[in-house]
Amino acid sequence: MTLIDGKKTAAEIKQEIAAQVKEMESRGERAPHLAAILVGHDGGSETYVANKVKACGECGFRSSLIRFEDDVTEERLLDEIKRLNEDDEVDGFIVQLPLPRHIDEQRIIRAIDPEKDVDGFHPVNVGNMSIGLPGFVSATPAGIMELLRRYGVETKGKHAVVLGRSNIVGKPMATLLMQKSNPGNCTVTVCHSATPNIKEICREADIIVAALGVPGFVTEDMVKPGATVIDVGTTRVPDSTRKSGWRLRGDVDFENVAPKCAFITPVPGGVGPMTICSLMMNTLKAKQK
Ligand code: GUN
Repeated sequence: MTLIDGKKTAAEIKQEIAAQVKEMESRGERAPHLAAILVGHDGGSETYVANKVKACGECGFRSSLIRFEDDVTEERLLDEIKRLNEDDEVDGFIVQLPLPRHIDEQRIIRAIDPEKDVDGFHPVNVGNMSIGLPGFVSATPAGIMELLRRYGVETKGKHAVVLGRSNIVGKPMATLLMQKSNPGNCTVTVCHSATPNIKEICREADIIVAALGVPGFVTEDMVKPGATVIDVGTTRVPDSTRKSGWRLRGDVDFENVAPKCAFITPVPGGVGPMTICSLMMNTLKAKQK
């Protein structure tokens, strides 16, 4: 069994990016600049955004954090997005999701200039990815593809099962895995809450990507010996032994599943650090455009 070390891989990639930024600056260019809009004080979102700002520092990027309270109006957010779209000093920006219920998330995403949409959530970027054209790809699936590439996981002709159909992970993951590319070229099955025979389908999988948000969902009896298992789950579960009172748990019963696998990602330290890394790669690409 090979443990796919996302933390180590992400650290290597950030060093590679930092070297490119140094080179840019030595040519007299300014460093890439990522802005993040954060609405409210959700604990998870606060942590994600803080980690994104920290990663910018590690890569030598400029970063700006723009905060609004929960009661911000949709119009005020749209004004801020317009300002960022027009700011030549900002190469890319993100609006951290989820947003409060009174705000139309899709309207916010559609307002972002696709050329600055480093999250790859705008319909133009989703469409470009879908037909194999260049553009920004959603960070989590892009990070997983990078892990498969760097660890030399054979994907051509393999059966990949994606658990979950979210716009951010499941759908783009399925699209990328079926793409005529390496990694890619898989036969893909997508399972979701209305799939009756998930266990049987998983047992046929060479590659499982678990992105349901159900801690410990993938059990040992669902995994074929020699399979590759990628765990996207990051649910906070109570843990009285931790100072915080919680720990992160993935969608895979790691302890019992890992011994059967050819490759597996841990939680934490697997997909999570790569997601932020992909955002950094997208921001560098936005600056180079
Ligand atoms: N919420 C959960 N994941 C993400 C992400 O990748 N980008 C943004 N903007 N919000 C998120």
